[in-house]
Amino acid sequence: MRVIGAPTDFVAALDAERALGRRVGLVPTMGALHAGHRSLVERAAGECDVVAVTVFVNPLQFHDPTDLERYPRDLDGDIALAAAAGASIVFAPSVEEMYAGFPAPPPTSVHVAGVSEVLEGAARPGHFDGVATVLSKLFSMAGRCRAYFGDKDFQQLAVVRRMVADLSFPVEVVGCPTVREPDGLALSSRNVRLSAQGRRRALALRRALDAGLALLAEGERRPAVVDEAMARVLAAEPLIEPGYAVAVDAATLRAPDDANPRLSGRVRLLVAAVVDGVRLIDNTGAVLGPDGAVAVLEDTDPGLVPAGIVHDRRER
Ligand code: PAJ
Repeated sequence: MRVIGAPTDFVAALDAERALGRRVGLVPTMGALHAGHRSLVERAAGECDVVAVTVFVNPLQFHDPTDLERYPRDLDGDIALAAAAGASIVFAPSVEEMYAGFPAPPPTSVHVAGVSEVLEGAARPGHFDGVATVLSKLFSMAGRCRAYFGDKDFQQLAVVRRMVADLSFPVEVVGCPTVREPDGLALSSRNVRLSAQGRRRALALRRALDAGLALLAEGERRPAVVDEAMARVLAAEPLIEPGYAVAVDAATLRAPDDANPRLSGRVRLLVAAVVDGVRLIDNTGAVLGPDGAVAVLEDTDPGLVPAGIVHDRRER
């Protein structure tokens, strides 16, 4: 395992790999790696010749300074996990190495209009500008590669795909399914900050998504009705602070807005809530066929077959 701190060394290391004809896989993270991150590294290792994991707690994307301060950090553990999962390079720069002049914000930043402004973007102003800016830097340093991201942060994946297309980064973005605990809780670095009770309460997010999926399977196509059912599940859980609960078009992340809005095609259900002062998000996907069929879709790669068809209501 090679651990690199200086951006120039990172650029040189990946250039050298490509010069040897090796395909580069990139897994950007903020560290505190868990089995969700591991799944991305393993997928990258299966598809690329060399895998670089970046570990950088990016201050630009934190709206709340306490959240940044409390963000878990464990570089030794991250290096061990990345190596075991098949990575051979860890890039872990300091804040000063990434942002000269920090804490002054960099004069240049990247804003992806539209998809950045709803949901997490509305709740955390500037968040996706921070994400897009740091990823622009990481992509520029890494050069031609395949970059792996989790569906867990579905809106982030949409922002990254848009940015890569619009700015012509030589990066192929790969979306990977959300890894969950056996009880359905999506793995997140922030879960370590939950109390035992908070951990149980956090399951309301998955239950809300399941309530939304169940309605879709019954043939419900009005987004407001699905939203309300999911919101009710979040509101029923004591001591959690519900955020949004929405059924939206998977491409635009907005509700269909014609005169008679009905959900169709690729739909995403997204929820957010604050538990024990920790902001948690989760989402799931479904493809609504014209004949009433509903396929649950956890993977966002265009062209990939759905993870599994669990509901089928073709008679409707
Ligand atoms: P971080 O939260 O560390 O996540 C790094 C990557 O791991 C993201 O692509 C995220 O979607 C994925 N991931 C997290 N939990 C997952 C889970 N349970 N299953 C599958 N994948 C999961 O996302 C970020 O860091 C940052 O915003 C970053 C992209 C690194 C930019 O700073």
